[in-house]
Amino acid sequence: MEQPKNRVFSGVQPTGNLHLGNYLGAIRNFVGLQATHECIYCVVDMHAITVWQDPKELAANTREVAAAYIASGIDPDKHIIFNQSKVPAHAELAWILNCVARIGWLNRMTQFKDKAGKDREGASVGLYAYPVLMAADILAYRATHVPVGEDQKQHLELARDVAQKFNNDFAAPDFFPLPEPLIMGEATRVMSLRDGTKKMSKSDPSDYSRITMKDDADAIALKIRKAQTDPEPLPETVEGLTGRAGADNLVGIYAALSDMTKAEVLKEFGGAQFGTFKPKLAELAVEKLSPITSEMKRMMDHDQGYIDDVLAKGAVRARAITDPIYARVREIVGFI
Ligand code: TRP
Repeated sequence: MEQPKNRVFSGVQPTGNLHLGNYLGAIRNFVGLQATHECIYCVVDMHAITVWQDPKELAANTREVAAAYIASGIDPDKHIIFNQSKVPAHAELAWILNCVARIGWLNRMTQFKDKAGKDREGASVGLYAYPVLMAADILAYRATHVPVGEDQKQHLELARDVAQKFNNDFAAPDFFPLPEPLIMGEATRVMSLRDGTKKMSKSDPSDYSRITMKDDADAIALKIRKAQTDPEPLPETVEGLTGRAGADNLVGIYAALSDMTKAEVLKEFGGAQFGTFKPKLAELAVEKLSPITSEMKRMMDHDQGYIDDVLAKGAVRARAITDPIYARVREIVGFI
């Protein structure tokens, strides 16, 4: 079995309200990796159900993430788009890796602490084991590179630890490659439009806090117009954004959408009032996003059969990769 050198795996959870942060922080970077890597992009529906999901909404949200992948420019013929629950190796390998990972390792995961909140005893076992399933996602393909946001770095380190311990425990040196994070550039952390110190989030009660991938041009422009800023004009330098979270966020979004650095954006707009900058940002956001969001809407409204077809074919190709790897894992572990 050959070990690929440049196999990318990443996933997005189908939990609704897909937003600009998901696009700029993840999906757009997935698109860029296609030229240089063999890419496998998953809709991680099994991760989604670690917290309650309405079944109908889960199905719709799974299609929505797939549509976002396709509309953003991921080519489902050259690369693989599928949903996790269609490929049994994820769950099967996760069980084995649950027996490799240590409780102490999981106890250190900050995302579990955040998501479980005060009611740890009431959280699902799946939420606790979530990082092990994520390790299984990656290792089931022996993927080498994983584009992730800052918030997933700890989980990726856990995946490396799990891979290493598996290789050691079973005296199978180098069987699982240690997956490398690919952390992305400018404005990978898109913040709330209502509070520049908080991450843009699917679960924020205010719809004005995020630009979603369902927003039309009017909604995008309105949300940017209402975005929280301050009365000062834009600074001339990046240092001038310190302590101005709302301004920093909008400049970051402009930079990411235009493939510029924040410094370049400020060279152009330094000294300008938000009354001037916001309409420019809205124009840019609409120009960059509406081709994607309108194509997503078209697929969701009129071409669900196509989305389902992409997911089904992707799963067949995914299984063709995981089958021989998982067969080898079974041998290594001693399953007959
Ligand atoms: N945990 C990731 C997130 O919420 C999603 C995810 C699941 C993932 N499995 C993965 C990301 C494997 C990268 C690789 O963002």
